[in-house]
Amino acid sequence: MSARTGQSSFDALWMPFTANRRFKARPRMLVSADGMYYQTPEGRPVLDGTAGLWCVNAGHRHRRVIEAVQRQVALLDYAPAFQMGHPVEFEAATKLAAILPADLDRIFFTTSGSDAVDTALKIAVAYHHARGETTRTRLIGRERGYHGVNFGGTSVGGIASNRRIFSSLQPAGIDHLSFTYDLGKHAFSRGQPEWGAHLANDLERIVALHDPSTIAAVIVEPLAASGGVLISPKGYLERLREISAKYGILLIFDEVITGFGRLGAAFAAEKFGITPDMITMAKGLTNGTIPMGAVAVRRHIHDAVLGAAPEGTIEFFHGYTYSGHPVAAAAASAAIDVYKDEGLFERAAELAPYFADAAHSLRNAKHVMDVRNLGLVAGIELKPRQDGVGIRGYETLVRCFEAGVLVRAMADTVGLSPPLIAGRKHIDDMFGMLREVLESIE
Ligand SMILES: Cc1ncc(COP(=O)(O)O)c(C=O)c1O
Repeated sequence: MSARTGQSSFDALWMPFTANRRFKARPRMLVSADGMYYQTPEGRPVLDGTAGLWCVNAGHRHRRVIEAVQRQVALLDYAPAFQMGHPVEFEAATKLAAILPADLDRIFFTTSGSDAVDTALKIAVAYHHARGETTRTRLIGRERGYHGVNFGGTSVGGIASNRRIFSSLQPAGIDHLSFTYDLGKHAFSRGQPEWGAHLANDLERIVALHDPSTIAAVIVEPLAASGGVLISPKGYLERLREISAKYGILLIFDEVITGFGRLGAAFAAEKFGITPDMITMAKGLTNGTIPMGAVAVRRHIHDAVLGAAPEGTIEFFHGYTYSGHPVAAAAASAAIDVYKDEGLFERAAELAPYFADAAHSLRNAKHVMDVRNLGLVAGIELKPRQDGVGIRGYETLVRCFEAGVLVRAMADTVGLSPPLIAGRKHIDDMFGMLREVLESIE
């Protein structure tokens, strides 16, 4: 507490997506990190079961990423993003394009996942406009989807608590597919559930309702993470691709979480063998080290937008001061090298069955009503407590932190998504600690 202001050192910061008053009454602080572990101010190790916020895929403080950042910041701290270029952003875009599927090889850099989503939505509208289809402005998201917090992403997003008070401000013409999870049909599925491909036909309903000539794009997460680890049923994404292509609607995969090896391939698009029209990404792009996002765009979409503008003029009136920031680009370039040189995407694929067994070993643990998994993501769904949804999930998060493992709580779904460098012992430890916590709480 400061004698001058009467304020505690916690008062000035308004924390994002956090129960601020509760946190400040009993803070959970992290002061350093290395590899698979965080450290608290008391020097207590906390196993990182969530790769930070699904982003530190190569583990904490990776030497090559740190060195790339240090070199770059000492050489060129910043260069204007508009009408000027610097070598590292071109290098990062080229390396990124090389690990993306098909012709998704035109890269627009942003500063976060939210910015990537809003950028992709605007590119979709700009693409149709460039081809003379100016009525195609409608954007389709999905219930329980999460696409960040900007106005576009909030609007196509489908998590009620995030949208509720802003819904009258959303752009005109937003609609949502129904979500894909059914506890009765899906409980304890290993990997993609068998049931539910037909739920993609909901896009046909929306097309019939609004007419395809009004629809620009549909955006989905291949695995809806923040909405509670909802895994697309077998055949669902394929069907969505077919229907969207049939009506000339662009399909955007939001791979902010599934990108960079989380499902055992560079991107979910590659894992599922589906080519969307755009992929949004962030997080693992720089191993979480420096904020950065990106949109990968199929070549003909990029070419159509550029080709519609008169030669010598700006083709797309959009961008961020920090698009392609030199230090972020250096981190991205190094992170992509690390993923490749250390074979981390393949490692995640190899580890996935062990991780799945560990997750499903909680099937009979106290409070557990479902376990879902794909790649190195698991969602453990707890029965809500009678006094409210999310209370048991939050208590699990707090008690796990005290026990020495970081988990994520999305209402009553406990999420685990460790760095891709995790070993079997780390996996045993994280699920072991989670089990003990579940046994100990009400
Ligand atoms: C699928 C998805 N899209 C977008 C975002 C937003 O990314 P950011 O928090 O970097 O703005 C997230 C963040 O978790 C996400 O999971």
